[in-house]
Amino acid sequence: MGSPDIAILGTGSYAPVNVLTNEDLSKQVDTSHEWIFTRTGICERRIAGEDETTSFMAAAAARAAMADAGVTAADIDLIIVATVTPDMPMPATACFVQNLIGAPSRAACFDINAACSGFLYALDTAWAMLGSGRYRHALVIGAEKLSSAVNWKDRTTCVLFGDGAGAVVLGPARGSAQVLGVRLYAEGSHANLLCIPGGGSRVPDPSSSPEGPQRVIAMKGREIFKIAVREMEQAAREILAEHDLMPDQISCVIPHQANLRIIHALAEYLELPRDRLFVNVERYGNTSAASIPLALDEARRSGRIKPGELTLMLAFGAGLTYGSALVRW
Ligand SMILES: CC(C)(COP(=O)(O)OP(=O)(O)OC[C@H]1O[C@@H](n2cnc3c(N)ncnc32)[C@H](O)[C@@H]1OP(=O)(O)O)[C@@H](O)C(=O)NCCC(=O)NCCS
Repeated sequence: MGSPDIAILGTGSYAPVNVLTNEDLSKQVDTSHEWIFTRTGICERRIAGEDETTSFMAAAAARAAMADAGVTAADIDLIIVATVTPDMPMPATACFVQNLIGAPSRAACFDINAACSGFLYALDTAWAMLGSGRYRHALVIGAEKLSSAVNWKDRTTCVLFGDGAGAVVLGPARGSAQVLGVRLYAEGSHANLLCIPGGGSRVPDPSSSPEGPQRVIAMKGREIFKIAVREMEQAAREILAEHDLMPDQISCVIPHQANLRIIHALAEYLELPRDRLFVNVERYGNTSAASIPLALDEARRSGRIKPGELTLMLAFGAGLTYGSALVRW
């Protein structure tokens, strides 16, 4: 168990203004709105401009979360950015964010790569670090510029992903709000189902072997679909059992926004009415580590989450990583 007196004090998000619709995409690759929408539930996604780097979006989401929490950058002593699309391989995007928001030099800053589960991995890490008593206020951010990692000629992947950022401030609980639990998992035997095979130390310069692994997302979609539903169901059941809760006691479930069919299958397995789910995949597509905090912020700001209620977050992603988090507001 983590520390009982740590809570999400505020949330924020940022989405680029540039919208790419399914209709737009059908002019670039052999696809259609009908195919994309019926297979995924996605209608459009946001695409970041040149100046909208991952750190820029992360900092914008962080500022909104700090304003919501009523803290300033001077209060922040830990910044974790979950991302698979860092500004650069080195240094950590969190360091760029620190500089952009003007957080003090005593703040620890690092990135986490757990793909679409990254936000929950970062949340658990920050929760444990705050629980140690050595840090007081953390910015936990999920931010992605997936448009930079997508093969825009591959219709099987390019229709799925989008850009954006979401952030929370974690700190000493005020009132009854608190993080109740986080559970993290990974199945490394499935690591090759979803990856960016080129551009790392195995193949540092993909352009030198054009036929070899490229620095873009490669995915076996069908296999992932089935595993994703099973993994998220397991992550949900285990955290609920740990807290003696039944699925219908959760007023808002925020699943990773990858595919509406995956989300609906999950609801069916958990026997959860669909109106308990918060869904915005139709407007953003899959924004990987940004997906859950972006949805969380929208859910809170739209009044979908009220004080005292329980929210369950469920993630799966490349790795294959997966996990769950339970919070009370
Ligand atoms: C990717 C996904 C939408 C594909 O849906 P699917 O029903 O499994 O479709 P398939 O991959 O079997 O493809 C069916 C057909 O559509 C075609 N197709 C693929 N992408 C297409 C597109 N964008 N437009 C039109 N046709 C497309 C395929 O070529 C295939 O044609 P074929 O039957 O002639 O070979 C679905 O598998 C999925 O969402 N998986 C999970 C992926 C995911 O969430 N990844 C992120 C994890 S964090």
